[in-house]
Amino acid sequence: MAVASSDRGAWNSKLGFILAAAGSAVGLGNIWGFPTKVATEGGAAYLLIYLLCTFLIGFPVMVAELSIGRKSGKNPVGAFKALTTNKFFPLVGLWGVICGVMILSFYTVIAGWAFGYAFEEIFYFLGWQAGADWLTDTGNGFKNALIAAVFMMATIRIISGGVSEGIERATKTMMPLLIGIIVIMTIYVLFQPGAMDGVREYLLPDFSRINPTLIFSAMGQAFFSLSLGMGALITYGSYLNKKENIPQAAAFVTVADVGIAFLAGLLIIPALYVAQAAGIEIFVGDQLASSTNLVFQILPALFHTIGGAVGLILGVVFFLLLSIAALTSTISLLEVPVAYVIDEHNVPRKKAAWGVGLGILVITLVVSFQTSLIGTFDYIFNNLGLPIGGVLICVFIAFVWKTDSALDEMESGFEGVKKSLFGKVWPIFIKFICPAAILYNIISNFI
Ligand code: TRP
Repeated sequence: MAVASSDRGAWNSKLGFILAAAGSAVGLGNIWGFPTKVATEGGAAYLLIYLLCTFLIGFPVMVAELSIGRKSGKNPVGAFKALTTNKFFPLVGLWGVICGVMILSFYTVIAGWAFGYAFEEIFYFLGWQAGADWLTDTGNGFKNALIAAVFMMATIRIISGGVSEGIERATKTMMPLLIGIIVIMTIYVLFQPGAMDGVREYLLPDFSRINPTLIFSAMGQAFFSLSLGMGALITYGSYLNKKENIPQAAAFVTVADVGIAFLAGLLIIPALYVAQAAGIEIFVGDQLASSTNLVFQILPALFHTIGGAVGLILGVVFFLLLSIAALTSTISLLEVPVAYVIDEHNVPRKKAAWGVGLGILVITLVVSFQTSLIGTFDYIFNNLGLPIGGVLICVFIAFVWKTDSALDEMESGFEGVKKSLFGKVWPIFIKFICPAAILYNIISNFI
């Protein structure tokens, strides 16, 4: 028996989808992951390679995922089943579901840090140091577990209510506010002593720092930040209206995502050098003193030097916005396995959301106490898992479903796509450039 269609859901409006996909893309990857990796792995050289990976590999793959999703109207496993009788590709979808589950398990812990810091700012302002210190201790397993659990519950509640309402509304107000606050802080930071060293590090590439490890990391970051490679956008595409212009929507999401990551870097990299100039120990030699919680140390330090009510308000609002950005991302991560269970195992949405969500929470609790797992999971399921998923999606379109069928799907919403420049170039990327570049990067990283 088919699941009632109301359990699948759809986006309310044209803008709804774009907002939801942008909400999925913009998250901790932009504000925590990207600046951390720029700082530790190559400065402007990293930025440059990241931009190339995003536009040359990420964008074409995003168009591919959305086309598969809208054509099939299914979760990643069901989508491949619907478009081919080949038994291998549904496993690719399943691998995506697994990557999503594992990424969500550690993502929630970091989201919990961000959420906790909103309160840390308040406690700091009130002079309650013990409370503030408790929240800043990213190694405190009990605290991590508690806040992560709250975060997971919020995600489950939204997912169990269906896809559109909450995500669309949250994203619409959050995104402009987040950009606004980052811009204000960036201007403040750029006038502090030491900032220009950071700007130079961020914008003047030292090409000798480009190596296979850097490229591999930047490629993984591009996939993660765009929410690609695990079928999140196949799933979101499955709720997409036939009137929507897929390449245009993908372009908008890509630009919004890159824009926010770029801005976050322009804030955080100079802020590191400002903190360094102010005597806070950020670098040991030319290595960063800490990495996973770097951003969470530097930003509060910044709010505290601004101080007073202004520092308080900026700090609280910033961390709340970051939490909402993380929430619109955890929503997309949970939606994938939930859609899978709804479609493929005929479970009602509410039950699927709570069952899957609480199951993932168990892994999250382990990560809360063992935060070193974050790096390990990030490496396996993000750096490695997502690009592998990306290659297989390209292979699927190139050799099984065919780029022509994908373009046919794009015709609705983008009439004449086949004759357009995009229609001529995109197949070349999907058949040759993207898979070759991804495989080359993965292999040369290991050699
Ligand atoms: N893109 C989000 C970020 O940058 C994280 C994310 C959400 C994600 N959904 C995803 C990553 C799906 C990979 C796959 O924070």
